[in-house]
Amino acid sequence: MKDQFNRNIDYIRISVTDRCNLRCRYCMPSCGVASVPHGKILTFDEIVRLTQRFAEVGIRKVKITGGEPLVRRGVLDLIREIRQVSGIDEVTLTTNGVLIGQQPELAYQLAEAGVSSINISLDTLNRARYEMLTGSDGLDDVMRAIDACCSIPNLKAKVNAVTLADYNRDEVAELAALARDRNLDVRFIEMMPIGLGKDFKGYGQDWILKELEAVYGLAAMDENDCRGNGPAVYYRLEGFCGRVGFISAMSHMFCGECNRVRLTSEGLLKPCLQYAGGTDLRRLLRNGADDEILRDAIREAIYNKPQHHRFLDEIDDEMEGQGMSFIGG
Ligand code: GTP
Ligand code: 5AD
Ligand code: SF4
Repeated sequence: MKDQFNRNIDYIRISVTDRCNLRCRYCMPSCGVASVPHGKILTFDEIVRLTQRFAEVGIRKVKITGGEPLVRRGVLDLIREIRQVSGIDEVTLTTNGVLIGQQPELAYQLAEAGVSSINISLDTLNRARYEMLTGSDGLDDVMRAIDACCSIPNLKAKVNAVTLADYNRDEVAELAALARDRNLDVRFIEMMPIGLGKDFKGYGQDWILKELEAVYGLAAMDENDCRGNGPAVYYRLEGFCGRVGFISAMSHMFCGECNRVRLTSEGLLKPCLQYAGGTDLRRLLRNGADDEILRDAIREAIYNKPQHHRFLDEIDDEMEGQGMSFIGG
């Protein structure tokens, strides 16, 4: 369906858990955050019921997120059910990759359950830095996960690297090189001032492109597919199998083409990741709302989606105060 600004909203990001097996410094405090009690997290039946209603108002694509979605027990069954909801024609997943690296058959199981694309977060290729950044010695696992995903026909793989001035500015060429011999897109993500992310300094897309061109030669914008399902813009580098992409919410605002809403693991429907609050679908579900009431609440939330984020305005009272692990990215 269209929102009040005539944007077609056909994509939802569903966070299936706020828990994570890593402690990325820009996302979670090293001591962890108090996990949401199980009873407050949507059950699989509730998520599927809501997905049916989302599909009825025009949602066609579902991104499964977390926290780390693969730590939720039974997530493969949930994905299978979501994929079978009438009207949903694409299910994708964003993960830190650690569990896939530890059990590479998980990549096959995810593909078999109906996942067509997996995004794997990896900010550094340096073992010590990875450990410093995530609190875990998981770099080898993530590399195994990337290779497991790339080896599966019909499964698209992407790497997400958040730009962090103190951690990976000198690794831009190396990170991009993951896409040289693999059928894989590597995306550089501008840090958004959400949660702990506020305290990190990043660097921009224009600088990265110059750096990549100095090392690999001219980069050409991928006109055929410059926007996939999401906000990334893609470039091709001579001799590379995969592409390099950028998600630059601050310096290259893409809200005018936004196609998405978010469901948190607690059942809040958030029309934009920046704003606090949302529509409490869990409350409606647990108070016995029928399908029509749910659909109307979803329609209203989507219609009233804000025009754009206001990260640059520093209006704190409306800003989302919770971290990315709650929102799901
Ligand atoms: P696909 O390209 O469809 O695979 O997904 P994606 O890039 O939208 O999803 P992913 O989960 O890999 O997210 C990558 C980064 O983009 C994360 O930092 C997200 O927070 C950010 N992101 C995704 N959607 C939006 C959005 O609508 N607005 C903003 N500002 N950031 C977004
Ligand atoms: N800004 C931008 N991206 C972020 N991510 C986590 N926190 C932030 C932030 N503040 C990224 C993760 C993951 C994706 C889901 O979101 O690194 O790749
Ligand atoms: Fe959409 Fe909000 Fe992201 Fe802008 S910041 S692209 S409106 S979700």
